[in-house]
Amino acid sequence: MAPRTSPEVGGMGHSVKRKEDPRFLRGKGNYVDDIQLPGMVYLDIVRSPFAHAQITRIDTAKALAIPGVLAVITGQDLAKYKLHWMPTLMSDTQMVLPVEKVMFQSQEVAAVLATDRYIAADGVEAVEVDYDPLPVVIDPVKALEPGAPVLRTDKEGKKDNHIFHYEVGDKSATEQAFKSADVTVKQDIYLPRIHVASIETPGCVAQFDKVMGKLTVWMTTQAPHAIRTVFALVAGHVGLSEEKIRIISPDIGGGFGGKVPVYPGYVIAVAAAVLTGLPVKWVEDRMENLQADSFARDYHMTAELAAKKDGTLTALRIKTIADHGYTDAAANPSKFPAGLFSICTGSYDFKAAHVQVDGVYTNKPPGGIAYRCSFRVTEAAHAIERMVDVMAHELKMDSADFRLKNFIAPDRFPYKSILGWEYDSGDYEGALRKAMEKIGYAELRKEQAEKRERGELMGIGISSFTEIVGAGPSKHFDILGLKMFDSCEIRIHPTGKATARFGTKSQGQGHETTYAQILAEETGIPMQHITVEEGDTDTAPYGLGTYASRSTPTAGAAGAMAARKIREKARKIAAHLLEAREDDLEWEPGKFFVRGNPTRAKTIQEIALAAYTNYPQGMEAGLEAVSYYDPPNLTFPFGSYICVVDIDKGTGEVKIRRFVAVDDCGNIINPMIVEGQIHGGLTMGLAPAMYEEINYDEEGNIQGGSFMDYLVPTAVETPKWETDKTCTPSPHHPLGAKGVGESATVGAPPAIVNAVVDALWHLGVRHIDIPITPAKVWQCLREHGVTE
Ligand code: CDP
Repeated sequence: MAPRTSPEVGGMGHSVKRKEDPRFLRGKGNYVDDIQLPGMVYLDIVRSPFAHAQITRIDTAKALAIPGVLAVITGQDLAKYKLHWMPTLMSDTQMVLPVEKVMFQSQEVAAVLATDRYIAADGVEAVEVDYDPLPVVIDPVKALEPGAPVLRTDKEGKKDNHIFHYEVGDKSATEQAFKSADVTVKQDIYLPRIHVASIETPGCVAQFDKVMGKLTVWMTTQAPHAIRTVFALVAGHVGLSEEKIRIISPDIGGGFGGKVPVYPGYVIAVAAAVLTGLPVKWVEDRMENLQADSFARDYHMTAELAAKKDGTLTALRIKTIADHGYTDAAANPSKFPAGLFSICTGSYDFKAAHVQVDGVYTNKPPGGIAYRCSFRVTEAAHAIERMVDVMAHELKMDSADFRLKNFIAPDRFPYKSILGWEYDSGDYEGALRKAMEKIGYAELRKEQAEKRERGELMGIGISSFTEIVGAGPSKHFDILGLKMFDSCEIRIHPTGKATARFGTKSQGQGHETTYAQILAEETGIPMQHITVEEGDTDTAPYGLGTYASRSTPTAGAAGAMAARKIREKARKIAAHLLEAREDDLEWEPGKFFVRGNPTRAKTIQEIALAAYTNYPQGMEAGLEAVSYYDPPNLTFPFGSYICVVDIDKGTGEVKIRRFVAVDDCGNIINPMIVEGQIHGGLTMGLAPAMYEEINYDEEGNIQGGSFMDYLVPTAVETPKWETDKTCTPSPHHPLGAKGVGESATVGAPPAIVNAVVDALWHLGVRHIDIPITPAKVWQCLREHGVTE
């Protein structure tokens, strides 16, 4: 199957129709913060300055005395309705508002409701809270030591800070392989906390219609249906019933995994709307967003590789401590507490592997969300791609040759990995060779050798990652018990125009365009006559939402399957209209014709009209279909990235001179959108590799809680990305497509680190943890005797 292209590209991420939308003409967007309802009131939140403290007093009198302040809501108020705690998506519990103690700096303590946003902020200033500080646990390793303060005292019988132990692989076979290996390497690798920092912060407008008993919430969510169900489960006992809850997710200004969880602000706003009968708006400010929302990564890994002298990899072992903050609020599928970390054997053919992950509580905000990443795949790819480079250097082999020797060969697919996954398709050698050719690998190695002679520091780093996206087969994948299928419902109207609704939710990645393209190709209806809708639980079919690059593998496939059901009915109607046998009809996009006589044809528009005006006796009217697609497997996109860096010995500054990214996501629906996904993803991979990190001091004070310290790269820091592709279709996806949204964020960081370490290996440098700041490199150079 050739790669898919379409001349009818509506734009990068938005369909043409949007330009005519009156909201845009008014200069307004379709964001939560743009919503204005009569009588709307505003919510602002009091936050804790302490990372761990007993609350001894909350005095609301001064706040309530401010004209315009309507109420101050505390944990005690919510406790009356049993709404002060809520479940997380990992079946842990999270405070909505505390009644006893706070667990991290910036945690929600109380909420102020006022007639105006600024008055609400004044109210927050006026609420007096007394705290009694408690011992703070920041280091997850220390959190596991005997005698460490137990943080989750709310959990009866909990005697430590351990959340879960996850283990996969054959421990003894792996031990054996390490014992008999010619060469072994071991490396501690830390992936620090980072934050998605999406353009729009989370927020909502909650409106409760007391007459109808109906709650409508416009909210920044990537998974509206799942959120509706969670709201119904959490608040069913106070009368919120699922059919009376409508979640609308408008344009949400970027999600990247950070808008999957339910944040306390949403719940408080809903409670306030139901109790007061007034529409309530809550929108986080930037600092609240950076300091208190869910975080990603925070994986402390110890990785080991074993190999033969000739460079054949034999075994992999990884032990990880995962810092989840004070609650496990990750959005992993429930059977996978460590997400899909077990994809860590990557693109290589291992005979033995063993992986352990332990989740730990600390006094930090909830962690473990998948920042542009399919459930811990970024951590897995970082570990394996770093370790492969360490081993190649140890064996004094070229890192490209070493990879080529150990790749899973193209004829081994479908390939069963030693940790249990069945990779659908791949050609890793093809992608790496293309990247090497594009960048001029052999010449660069020559240049590097010459520069090294002259004492200059130049490095070449490769990352040949494999991802696992598209959760998932429902047999294995669920969140809170909800199976991870996805859906599409198509309605063809009498004039041959279509409305299609999906269970996913675009956050700027262009579903309006690509889904319309899929349906246009499958039905023959021009894409400008197909309206794609997502994100409204009152209209869209149930789905699990968009994250982890799952939309194309699941909902995209559902679109194709629903369209094919439409075509089957259309064939029957066409046979009736043409007075021909169904088997004698042939399809070409847009019409059925009688085999051998192309002029005897009925277009999809004529068939659509007949579906309402002239359909066969006994057939139901209409031309509609719905598909709830349960993928038979995940898809395994991959790529090979090569990064070239020059390092300034005087300042430690790393300059990315070139970066070539060859990606393979199977058949491409829209090349321009995929290109945009890769560009954005690469910059979001550059970010943690070089700039972004959130740390805490020993008292739990956040470092990196504003954009002054949390360094999101801009166009100035971003190098020129040189992209290319190979195409290895997925054999099980109806369109041969694989997901792509996260590939570049997953693949880029190890390529950058590998390039930097490659430049410094001859000095004795073995590893640098990200972010690779000039200060770190400068320090490293001094420690290894470079004094210039
Ligand atoms: O779930 P999410 O939409 O974030 O990720 P995705 O399924 O990887 O898709 C990202 C965007 O790229 C969507 O607009 C897809 O339709 C498009 N895409 C494509 O055109 N061809 C592919 N093979 C994969 C994705």
